[in-house]
Amino acid sequence: LLEDADCTARIVAAKEKLGDRVVILGHHYQRDEVFRHADFTGDSLKLAREAARSGAEYIVFCGVHFMAEVADILSRPEQVSILPDLAAGCSMADMADLARVEKCWQELGQVLEVETEVTPITYINSAADLKAFCGRHGGIVCTSSNAAWILEWAFTQRRKVLFFPDQHLGRNTGYRMGIPLEEMVVWRPGKPLGGLTEEQIRKARIILWEGFCSVHQMFRPEHIDRFKEKYPDARVISHPECCFEVCQKSDVIGSTEAILKTVRASEPGTRWLVGTELNMVNRLRQEMKPRGVDVHFMSPTVCMCSTMFRTDPQHLAWVLENLVEGNVVNRIQVPEEDARYAKQALDRMLALG
Ligand code: 13P
Ligand code: SF4
Repeated sequence: LLEDADCTARIVAAKEKLGDRVVILGHHYQRDEVFRHADFTGDSLKLAREAARSGAEYIVFCGVHFMAEVADILSRPEQVSILPDLAAGCSMADMADLARVEKCWQELGQVLEVETEVTPITYINSAADLKAFCGRHGGIVCTSSNAAWILEWAFTQRRKVLFFPDQHLGRNTGYRMGIPLEEMVVWRPGKPLGGLTEEQIRKARIILWEGFCSVHQMFRPEHIDRFKEKYPDARVISHPECCFEVCQKSDVIGSTEAILKTVRASEPGTRWLVGTELNMVNRLRQEMKPRGVDVHFMSPTVCMCSTMFRTDPQHLAWVLENLVEGNVVNRIQVPEEDARYAKQALDRMLALG
């Protein structure tokens, strides 16, 4: 406890010295001891926009690696993007890499005219070189809050979509837009033609990469059934990274920001079952309790994003104190060419509103 109080004081003091030279962005999954120091909090889309419009010299991103990359790509060249703990990655983002996506593109090219028939879409939870791949091939980036508009846009360009790395976001969004499950296939990297037949590829409207979020896979449809048996009037809200069956049983599906907005707008007496990361749900439960809104976590086991959790107050204090001393540590810098093409794909997304 003493150490925490000490760390908080160090962060506050360093922030004060740096003034508006630094901005701290905090994703909703950050632990409380870090989250409370953020100047702006939000989901990936909101924080990407904050990074793009920030005038600060240093953008300290309390989130995961791909978020700090996006901040670097969208900010001006003289601005510096910093990730307090370099080990804060995203296991889902790591499920797709440029070599295997290029191989997939080339194999799809044996069956289809990819450059005119397929729009590549990468979820923002992906490495910068995959965003650059999308930029080069007429594709785009999406987040969990805009995936439906982005898919709609993609189908105005070309008649098929290759969606990576999260199969669940792609499937849940496509289905809600009216695309039947039979028109979505899963590409299994490492297998010839992704384990698909030429006919399956020709028929498919969405080709989903076989990626997933290990945190959101912990939420199961039976958790919802059990809860509803006990509380038949309960409402269920889930992140679209949850599996299809969980999303089908949910009343509302939304990004972290959308989940917060929806629950905050509910009437006293409402009981919510929430399927997303534990730190955010715990904070929301505390916030809503005095307003008579009951918030429950969907899984009986502890599902935290262990990489989001890596960012602790010690790392935050350390990077800020270094900035005060004039040292930049843990800078995230995307190679220039990747940054240029990745920006094209990100700008296409941001322009869609
Ligand atoms: P949001 O865009 O909803 O914040 O989601 C990011 C994420 O990593 C969810 O697992
Ligand atoms: Fe990645 Fe899942 Fe963590 Fe989100 S919750 S950052 S998708 S591992």
